[in-house]
Amino acid sequence: MPPPSRSSITGRPVMITGAASGIGRALARRLSRFGAPVAIADVDEAGLKETAASLGGMVLTRVLDVRDADDVHRFAGEVRGWLPAPLAAVFNNAGVAVTSTLLEADPDDDEWLWNINFHGVVNGTRAFLPLLVEQNEGAIVNTSSVYGLVGVPYQTAYCAAKFAVRGFTDSLRQELRRTGVRAVAIHPGGITTNIARNARVRKDPTGLGRTKDQLAAEFEAVTMTSPDKAAEIIHRGMERGKARILVGPDAYLIDALARLTPTHSYQAIMAVQKRLWAMRRSGR
Ligand SMILES: NC(=O)c1ccc[n+]([C@@H]2O[C@H](COP(=O)([O-])OP(=O)(O)OC[C@H]3O[C@@H](n4cnc5c(N)ncnc54)[C@H](O)[C@@H]3O)[C@@H](O)[C@H]2O)c1
Repeated sequence: MPPPSRSSITGRPVMITGAASGIGRALARRLSRFGAPVAIADVDEAGLKETAASLGGMVLTRVLDVRDADDVHRFAGEVRGWLPAPLAAVFNNAGVAVTSTLLEADPDDDEWLWNINFHGVVNGTRAFLPLLVEQNEGAIVNTSSVYGLVGVPYQTAYCAAKFAVRGFTDSLRQELRRTGVRAVAIHPGGITTNIARNARVRKDPTGLGRTKDQLAAEFEAVTMTSPDKAAEIIHRGMERGKARILVGPDAYLIDALARLTPTHSYQAIMAVQKRLWAMRRSGR
C-alpha cells in the first residue's frame, strides 16, 4: 500500500451502498479491517446483517432502496449524525443487470435497471455531496463498468446506465475542480459476484435456450477477479488519487481496445478474450 495522500480514505469513515453482497461487501470488509468506520446500506436486509456481523469496527447499517431519493436524503442525515470524523468517501456501488435483446426487452426491466444503476447513483451523489463540499474534502465514488467504456450486445439498458454514470461522474469532477472534493469513476471488468444470479433474464438472447442459471455459471467461469481483489484494487486506486479506476486485467484490455478501435472494439475484445480464457483453462 502506498503512503496515504491528503485524500487518503484509509481508517476514515466511508459510506457504501450495495454492501450486502459482492464488491460492496468486500469493500466494507477491507476498509473496516483498515480501521474505517463504515456506514453500509442495501435493500437486502439479511445480506446486510451478514456483512455487518463480519466487520470488526464501528458500523452503521441501513436498509435502503437507492431508487428512493427522499430516503437516501434521510439516510445522509443519519450518517451526518453518526460520523466520528469527516466522511472520506461515498461509494455509490449498488447495481443490477438485465440481459436481453432490445426488441425483446421488457421496458419495466430496463426502467428498473436505470432507476437503480443511474438514478441511484444520482440520488446518492445529490444527498451526500453537500456534506463533502461543506467539509471541503472527501470523494464521490461512482461504480460504472467496462460496459461504460464499450457497447456490447444484449446489454443496451446496462451500457446506457453505465455510460451515464461515467458521463455524470466525469462532468461532476470538472465542476468540483476548485474544491477539496473529488469524483471517481470505477470501471470493473468481470468480478465473481452475485450480479448475474440477481439479473433479470427472461430468455437467452442468443437463441441457444440456456437458462438464467446456465448464463450466470458461464459468466462466473469467465470472470477474472474476485470481490476481495476488486476491493483491494479500488482501495489502492483511491489512495493513489486516481480519478478513474480500472478493476481487473480484462478492464485494462477493454479500455485499450476501446481507444484503439472504438467502433469495432467488441469483436476485438471477444477475439483477445477467447485466447486469454483458453490460456487460463490450459494453465498457461
Ligand atoms: N460483477 C461484475 O462483473 C461487475 C462488473 C462491472 C460493474 N459491476 C458493478 O458493480 C456494482 C456491484 O455489483 P456486484 O457485482 O457486487 O453485484 P452483487 O449482485 O453481488 O451486489 C449488488 C448489491 O446491490 C444491491 N442492490 C440492488 N438493488 C438495490 C437497490 N435498489 N438499493 C440498494 N441496494 C441494491 C443488491 O442487494 C446487492 O447486495 C454494481 O453497480 C455493478 O453494476 C459489477
